[in-house]
Amino acid sequence: MLKIDLTGKTAVITGATGQLGRVMVRTLAGCGADIAVHYLKNKDAAERLAQEVRAAGRRCITVQADVTHPDSVKQMQNSINQELGPAHIIVNNAIIQYNCTTILNQDPGDYESQFRSCVMQNVLMAKAFVPGMIDGGWGRVIGINTECALLCPTNQSAYVSGKRGMDGVLRTLAKEVGEYGITVNQVAPGWTVSDRDRENGTESRPEYEASIPLRRRGTDQEIANVAAFLASDLASYITGAIIPVCGGHASTGI
Ligand SMILES: NC(=O)c1ccc[n+]([C@@H]2O[C@H](COP(=O)([O-])OP(=O)(O)OC[C@H]3O[C@@H](n4cnc5c(N)ncnc54)[C@H](OP(=O)(O)O)[C@@H]3O)[C@@H](O)[C@H]2O)c1
Repeated sequence: MLKIDLTGKTAVITGATGQLGRVMVRTLAGCGADIAVHYLKNKDAAERLAQEVRAAGRRCITVQADVTHPDSVKQMQNSINQELGPAHIIVNNAIIQYNCTTILNQDPGDYESQFRSCVMQNVLMAKAFVPGMIDGGWGRVIGINTECALLCPTNQSAYVSGKRGMDGVLRTLAKEVGEYGITVNQVAPGWTVSDRDRENGTESRPEYEASIPLRRRGTDQEIANVAAFLASDLASYITGAIIPVCGGHASTGI
């Protein structure tokens, strides 16, 4: 039977306290990985998640960092290295939320915040963690992008500009580190059903779903499944890819 087996691997998931991050934590841990649960402010949620992972038999720590600041990311890498050893898998998932509006109304600061959380997070995470992957001769860098970067919808230009910049960083990184056995890929979710929707009863968004070829929203678990696949040896010959997980709403390729 084909199986996703991450036994012996250590994974760092940024923004693990968020809607999609928490499910990626559970999923990668369920595949056997030890986990560093990263958070910015939500320490309690991070600790609860870590307890779940430990209860499932995996090693797990929580780490606080601002992923837009070099010293903070480096400190996080040092803590993970000391407590769990070198990370084999990083999932760059954290995002600074912002107000969606037209370019004419968007606060210039929103472009800066998206640049920091999308572009700089990926640069700083690579600088901190990829050297250890090079030493070990194996690594997985996974960026969580968005269908918006492929669709360029109205009112999302700050987000799109940050995520398109992130795409440029990660596709370049894939070429620069492939020779060391490191793959670099991205997942591009659509507007995804997560705990927030389950709590608010907003799983169904009929207008959006009507525009999706599969006629439904994807789930947090469906995003985490692709991250787990990309983290595994099953995806050993995929690098530099961005995989839309959005029911066909957006596609890539020729
Ligand atoms: N949800 C969707 O439908 C959807 C769709 C397409 C793409 N995505 C992408 O999926 C990823 C996760 O989205 P989400 O909806 O799960 O986000 P979310 O629920 O808003 O979670 C954001 C996470 O990022 C952390 N964070 C925010 N600013 C940070 C900073 N400066 N430094 C470090 N961490 C910071 C937060 O930490 P604390 O809570 O600890 O403060 C939180 O864990 C994002 O990259 C997003 O673009 C999501």
